[in-house]
Formats: sequence, C-alpha cells, structure tokens
Amino acid sequence: MSDSRPEPGTPQRDPGAPSCPAPGALDAVRGARIFVGVTGGIAAYKTCTVVSRLAQAGAAVTVAMTESATRFVQPLTFQALSARHVYTSAWEHVESLDPQHISLATACDLALVAPCTMDCLARLATGRTDDVVTLILSAVDRRRTPVLLAPAMNSVMWAQPSTQRNVRQLRDDGFDVIGPASGWQACRHVGEGRMSEPEEILAAVVNRVPARARA
Ligand SMILES: Cc1cc2nc3c(=O)[nH]c(=O)nc-3n(C[C@H](O)[C@H](O)[C@H](O)COP(=O)(O)O)c2cc1C
Repeated sequence: MSDSRPEPGTPQRDPGAPSCPAPGALDAVRGARIFVGVTGGIAAYKTCTVVSRLAQAGAAVTVAMTESATRFVQPLTFQALSARHVYTSAWEHVESLDPQHISLATACDLALVAPCTMDCLARLATGRTDDVVTLILSAVDRRRTPVLLAPAMNSVMWAQPSTQRNVRQLRDDGFDVIGPASGWQACRHVGEGRMSEPEEILAAVVNRVPARARA
C-alpha cells in the first residue's frame, strides 16, 4: 500500500494560511524599481513578506523607514531582504549633487507605503515632508508613478472623521489606497483598520506597476 505522507522535512503548507500568488504571478515586477516606505505600526512585520516576495521576483526594492517604524522592525531586516541600503534619515547622502530624496523618487517605477499610519496619512494629505518617507514621496510625480498606501490602524483611529477626510483627500490627489481590511487587530479588537494581507498588496503592486518598468 502506498504511503501518501510527505517525506520528513518536506515543507508543509498551513491550510489556514492565505494562499500565495501563483508561480509567475509576480513576473510583472521583474526589473521594476519599487520604493517601499514603512511607517510606525505593528503591521510593519507584514511588510517584510512584501519586500521579500518582490525581491525574490526580481524587483529592485528600496526601503525607507520613519523613526517610529524602526521601533517595530530593524532596518537590518529590510536590508537583508532587499539586499539594498535602507534609508532612515532625510539627511543621508546630502553631499550628492542630486539630493537623496530626489534621486530615489525619480528612480522608482512604483511607490508603496505599508503600513501607512494615521499620522502618515495626515502628513501626506497636508503635503508635509518632515520625515524620510514623506520627503521621498513629495518628489514622486504621481502622473507617471503610482503611489499605493496601505493604511493600518485601530478601528477607532480608522473611523475618525480626520482619517476619513484625509483618505478622501489623498484619493483626490491621485494616491491609491489599498484596504484596510476587517478582522483581528493587534489591540485585541475586531474591526476595520488592519493592513491588507501581503498577497493583496502584492496583487495591487502587480496590477499597477507600469508596463515600461518590466524587464
Ligand atoms: C505599540 C504601538 C503601536 C502602534 N500602532 C499603530 C498602528 O498600527 N497604526 C497607527 O496609525 N499608529 C500606530 N501607533 C502610533 C504611531 O506609531 C505614531 O502615531 C507615530 O508617531 C507614527 O509615526 P510615523 O507615521 O512617522 O511612522 C502605534 C504606537 C505604538 C506605541
């Protein structure tokens, strides 16, 4: 009688885990230059998966983190996953004739902020540029380079009139907003505000990455 059990050591898929994009689904990002901004929320750990999957698919991923984000995930983690320098300050490489934020902004085919905090939504909606992530985004021309925001916060924070007003403003200003999803939150509430799963974010990136970026 044949034994259908897998060999010991064979990786097993958790049946309850969200499904990964099918093989080849990320081909569209091969060769694309993708900027990932990380801001200070618990969901930053999910962004590690997003960056890893994009890098494995052949994208050139550059990560910048706010000071708050570095309290949740070490820059070293993103450096290892992306195999590139991680920017944590607006004041790195200012000696260059082409200031860092301008060169990073112009050298990207798509930008993503995940997680995007309530505060970052407010800063972007009002055109503020006082951290490395919003400074780089301020120099991205959204007429040619899609900018995707993946908000993540407690359900009450998400429902605040100020947050909803900022999200409307950001959509009007040409930002794409992914999610948030409903479900279990790190604050031990169930509600709307948790960051979309990495698979949904990756699908959104694939859908929006410009054809000109593909290798
Ligand atoms: C433990 C902890 C968890 C937090 N999680 C979130 C979160 O999920 N979403 C959010 O919008 N803010 C969250 N905050 C608040 C932000 O970290 C805070 O507003 C910070 O100033 C955001 O800075 P940044 O947008 O520059 O990263 C959290 C704060 C703490 C202390």
